Amino acid sequence: MTMRKLLFVNACMRGEESRTLKICKTFLEAYRRKYPDSTVEEVNLSTMELKPYDAQMLAERERLTREEAWDNEIFALARQFAEADDIVVGAPYWDLSFPSKLKIYVEHMMAGGIAFYYTEEGPKGLAKAQTMYYLTTGGGFIEGQNFGAEYFRGIAKMCGIAQFKEARAEGLDIIAWMWTH
Ligand SMILES: Cc1cc2nc3c(=O)[nH]c(=O)nc-3n(C[C@H](O)[C@H](O)[C@H](O)COP(=O)(O)O)c2cc1C
Repeated sequence: MTMRKLLFVNACMRGEESRTLKICKTFLEAYRRKYPDSTVEEVNLSTMELKPYDAQMLAERERLTREEAWDNEIFALARQFAEADDIVVGAPYWDLSFPSKLKIYVEHMMAGGIAFYYTEEGPKGLAKAQTMYYLTTGGGFIEGQNFGAEYFRGIAKMCGIAQFKEARAEGLDIIAWMWTH
């Protein structure tokens, strides 16, 4: 039996009301059935107060990167991401992509030297994960405009995660909208 560590990046801002979260829960159940010994670590962005990166924070991170102070708290989210065996990102479809707290998470997580590093041929990934899953739900039809998923496809590639899979439920608000108009 394989012991695996799944990282659940929960960007479902409506908490328990969220339909995206329901899909994530179904995914987590299926994952646990497939890997009964797996553990799940959750980053719940709706309750976390992450600060967007500014000049001071960047300077501090650069200093700690130069010192290779990888145990510093500033790198905690990057280390957690890089050490997961699989990653699932759950995010509702907001304004053609996802809630802004998820972008702020990426700013914290994409620490050079942990999630990836630069070479003369461009960035090379350092994340251990085999697969990144991206789950979303949309009020209308997402069709060819799943920019959130495409963004995370790029993040997965940059971090060296070989497989990217996305699933979505669409058109969830259309009935509700029709009833009120
Ligand atoms: C701030 C905000 C922005 C949204 N933007 C879009 C959009 O661009 N396109 C769309 O089809 N639905 C949009 N929706 C509707 C959501 O995608 C839809 O209600 C989704 O299922 C919400 O997921 P949740 O139940 O997990 O919160 C938006 C909803 C909110 C609250």
